[in-house]
Amino acid sequence: MKATEEFLEYVNQFNNLNKKIVLKKNHTLRVVSLCEEIARELKLSQEEIELVKLCGLLHDIGRFEQINRYDSYDDLSTLDHGDVGEMILKKDKLINRFSKNNHNTILRAVKYHNKYRVPNTLNEKNKLFVNITRDADKIDILNLIVKGEISIKTNNTKMSNKIYKGFFNKKMLKNKDIKTPADEIASKLAFIFDLNFKESYKIVKNKNYVNKIIEIQMEETNNKDLINQLKEIKKVMNNYIEEMIQC
Ligand SMILES: [Fe+2]
Repeated sequence: MKATEEFLEYVNQFNNLNKKIVLKKNHTLRVVSLCEEIARELKLSQEEIELVKLCGLLHDIGRFEQINRYDSYDDLSTLDHGDVGEMILKKDKLINRFSKNNHNTILRAVKYHNKYRVPNTLNEKNKLFVNITRDADKIDILNLIVKGEISIKTNNTKMSNKIYKGFFNKKMLKNKDIKTPADEIASKLAFIFDLNFKESYKIVKNKNYVNKIIEIQMEETNNKDLINQLKEIKKVMNNYIEEMIQC
C-alpha cells in the first residue's frame, strides 16, 4: 500500500523520540488492520476494503500536529484532532498524496472519527466508512489500556455518581463529566456502547478486553466502593456485548 509509505514519511517529519508520536503511529497501523478485519467480516468489496484502510490510516493525522504543538492528546484543552486532521489533509491538497479519489469519504471519516455523535446528514456510504473507522479506533484504545500504554491510575478514588449512573444508560459518556481519576475507566469502557457492528463486538469479546481492563483496576485498588462499581460495570458490559452479538 503506497499510502502507508506516504503516511510514514509524513510522520517522519515529527520527533520520533517523542513517545506520544510513536504511540500514535503504531496505533494508526493497528487501526488500519482492524478496519480491514471489520470490512472483511462485513463482506465489503476489495475496493471498499482499500478505502476503509485509507480512512484508518489517516484518521489520526491531526494528532501529530497536536502533539508537536502541545505535547498533549487532550482535545478539550488543546484542539479537536479530528477537525485539525481534516484541515491538514485539505491544506495544499495533502490528501492527494494518499489517494486520488474518494476524498469526501476520507475527510468525513477523519473529521468524525472522534466526535461524540456522527451527524445524521451523512450519506449511507460515508456513514459506513465513518462508523468502521470509529469502531476500529475504539477497539485499539481498549487494546492500549490492556497493554498499559494508556494507563488509568485511579489513585484509590471511586467513580463519581454522574459517571457511574450514566454508565447504566448504555451510551458513551461525556468527557466534560469526568470528575475523578476512576471515572476514566467507565468512560473508556463506555466506548463499547457506541460500537456499530456485530463484528466489532465479536473482536472485543474474543480479545477479552472488558475483563482484562477490570482485572487490572481491581488489582490496583483497595477502595471497596470502586471494587463494587467495577463488578457491576463488568456485569453490565459483558451482558451488553452478548446481546449485541446475538441480535
Ligand atoms: Fe483519534
